[in-house]
Amino acid sequence: SQKMVKICCIGAGYVGGPTMAVIALKCPAIEVVVVDISKPRIDAWNSDQLPIYEPGLDEVVKECRGRNLFFSTDVEKHVAEADIIFVSVNTPTKTRGLGAGKAADLTYWESAARMIADVSKSDKIVVEKSTVPVKTAEAIEKILTHNSKGINYQILSNPEFLAEGTAIKDLFKPDRVLIGGRETPEGKKAVQALKEEVYAHWVPEDRIITTNLWSAELSKLAANAFLAQRISSVNAISALCEATGANVSEVAYAVGKDTRIGPKFLNASVGFGGSCFQKDILNLVYICECNGLPEVANYWKQVIKINDYQKSRFVNRVVSSMFNTVSGKKIAILGFAFKKDTGDTRETPAIDVCHGLLGDKAQISIYDPQVTEDQIQRDLSMGKFDWDHPRHLQPTSPTAFKQVSVVWDAYEATKGAHGLCILTEWDEFKTLDYQRIFDNMQKPAFVFDGRNVVDPEKLREIGFIVYSIGKPLDAWLKDMPAVA
Ligand code: NAD
Ligand code: UDX
Repeated sequence: SQKMVKICCIGAGYVGGPTMAVIALKCPAIEVVVVDISKPRIDAWNSDQLPIYEPGLDEVVKECRGRNLFFSTDVEKHVAEADIIFVSVNTPTKTRGLGAGKAADLTYWESAARMIADVSKSDKIVVEKSTVPVKTAEAIEKILTHNSKGINYQILSNPEFLAEGTAIKDLFKPDRVLIGGRETPEGKKAVQALKEEVYAHWVPEDRIITTNLWSAELSKLAANAFLAQRISSVNAISALCEATGANVSEVAYAVGKDTRIGPKFLNASVGFGGSCFQKDILNLVYICECNGLPEVANYWKQVIKINDYQKSRFVNRVVSSMFNTVSGKKIAILGFAFKKDTGDTRETPAIDVCHGLLGDKAQISIYDPQVTEDQIQRDLSMGKFDWDHPRHLQPTSPTAFKQVSVVWDAYEATKGAHGLCILTEWDEFKTLDYQRIFDNMQKPAFVFDGRNVVDPEKLREIGFIVYSIGKPLDAWLKDMPAVA
């Protein structure tokens, strides 16, 4: 029989960690080593306190770690030994130089590729797991072949479609697995190897799509752009609902019943967040511009503009309902993560909302079941693009905001507050004792629900003034000055 296949994954982050854990679980005959330059991250993967919170992840890691799943900082050794190398490093938006604010920063990718070229002594399949600009495989191929010492490299694009908070579920039962490769005999062989030796162990054959390299790379950017576009579409409609008395949940339900549109991913919100959507659309926009397609670039740019509009619209609602000032008022923030079931705060709309409220001199008190105080203080003291970069590479800011407090309980956060904002759809926010919260707040007491998790009618019965995205407005809000 064949020798044991060895996989090495460079980058032990939100994608590399869970993805490799599931490959190790489903392919017991493969040895999987996840490597990273960050020692704290690797130490955490080897401890009982994993570096990321993801439902079901602990169980998978517990079962495989030490058996055929390993986490190590010995990057070069494991790269040298591997047959298949996944590269899952971060690809944030460039902050300076050419394409700053839009283009993908491929510094981490390039240094990984050069390191692979340096240490390899046998043929390798190099798999792009990170989301990269279309045509990146060509650049990677050049770096590898120009430094190759006679070694054969096949580059594959195998973008990851998991969503945070449901990563394990998504990996167990993916809608599809996409593998792109060169259309040469060696390229096809590499595609087959990744398909048969890895994914076919648990993913049904008809869900494994193979394409050329550029289609695979571009499909990932396109999928994220389409998904984000749905949210901006429903959010744009939510503003019109508020102006007309229509209810966005009813509209989304009616629209989504059309099987051509479908019911998923149509929840109006305070805006989409997360490390992917904005970054990948900006990247797509940049690529369009570079290819002389300004009309296409502007089309996709609008998805981000509506998202920014939605966030500032929310802040304006809060401030205008409270007599046009929140200066010195305590505002509770329930939820800081960019979605439920994750502790990830990258690009969370909560950052922009908090900045908006702090700009109007509010006192804010934040509660999130999975985000640490340290993380929140860091997020709120950073400039616009800093939070695109991996946590451990950031200098920790000592200047904790005096206007911000972080507490470990929703009741504590809302005590004495004038208003509360729900910014993440954590399940526990649905079942809070809102009567108790009301009793301990200043009056009039306001609820601003940025995720449509509470029943506005029930809260109004208690006595709250309620704003829910895209829902018919209270008389109180109607009387307030129009939102700019
Ligand atoms: P992350 O920041 O959590 O993890 C990246 C890791 O790579 C970090 O731990 C970093 O230390 C490590 N790294 C960077 N350069 C390295 C090097 N030269 N050698 C070894 N390790 C190195 O990022 P992530 O969220 O896991 O995203 C990784 C990629 O996957 C990105 O391209 C992202 O767009 C894409 N992606 C992310 C998601 C998601 O939900 N987060 C989903 C699909 C795709
Ligand atoms: C996304 C893609 O879904 C995933 O396929 C890709 O691999 C990575 O990017 P992620 O960002 O982890 O995943 O989470 P997702 O569930 O897509 O949510 C992104 C943001 O959109 C969150 O802030 C979420 O709250 C928001 N959202 C999502 C809405 O506002 N309304 C919705 O209907 C759905």
